[in-house]
Amino acid sequence: MDIILRAVDVHKVYRMGDEDLDVLRGVSLDVRKGDFIAITGPSGVGKSTLLHIMGGLDRPTRGAVSVRETDIYKLNDRKRSQFRSRSVGFVFQFYHLLPEFTALENVMLPALAGGEAGSADVKSRAEKLLGDVGLAARSAHRPGQMSGGEQQRVAIARALMNGPDLLLADEPTGNLDSHNSKVIIDLLVRLNREQGQTTVIVTHDERIASQMKRVIRMLDGNIIDIRDN
Ligand SMILES: Nc1ncnc2c1ncn2[C@@H]1O[C@H](COP(=O)(O)OP(=O)(O)OP(=O)(O)O)[C@@H](O)[C@H]1O
Ligand SMILES: [Mg+2]
Repeated sequence: MDIILRAVDVHKVYRMGDEDLDVLRGVSLDVRKGDFIAITGPSGVGKSTLLHIMGGLDRPTRGAVSVRETDIYKLNDRKRSQFRSRSVGFVFQFYHLLPEFTALENVMLPALAGGEAGSADVKSRAEKLLGDVGLAARSAHRPGQMSGGEQQRVAIARALMNGPDLLLADEPTGNLDSHNSKVIIDLLVRLNREQGQTTVIVTHDERIASQMKRVIRMLDGNIIDIRDN
């Protein structure tokens, strides 16, 4: 049992004026190596909040998250940010590519930011990843010169650049038509099946969730159901 991520009794409270908003109410969850998990549930139940906390992007009010046995919120901000760039790849609904850089440069960035600037192999790794997502012919395009589906594939290649233990994706198909959604999901399925990429995605789409190995349903800040497909 190789546990990649363990969340224990995670709470998140937002203080709004003099009212507390209990967004996560004690979520516990293990992600094992090779898992492919969908988190679903109605709007506002805390799915994005949970995913951000799992990825080291947002601190829980209470509870702990460990990735590969490192308690990530016990690290200082600089160490946590280093840890995140090495261990976690994040994919967002709206891609978040840097508009002034080419596809290839966007994919290279996480390695460059990690201090690999001198490494000749960064470029060839990024080219290989762009090939893996079917975009070898788009490497010189800037985000504004690519379709939404292509931009999301670049974002996935970028998320994989540092060989993350864990790939997290928040509604990665939320902004795409059904054809491009299928391309993205097929890609994630293939990465999981062929490379054992541990992946957690948030999705509203039941048909997408049914293709994942495990489906976690949330309601009112809690996990109410875990189903293995
Ligand atoms: N920074 C914040 N300050 C206060 N409240 C917040 C903040 N971020 C999120 N919330 C509230 O927390 C709740 C959960 O938000 P979250 O984004 O996790 O929901 P979600 O399940 O991802 O919803 P959706 O499916 O619409 O993306 C919402 O009610 C939201 O309004
Ligand atoms: Mg959300």
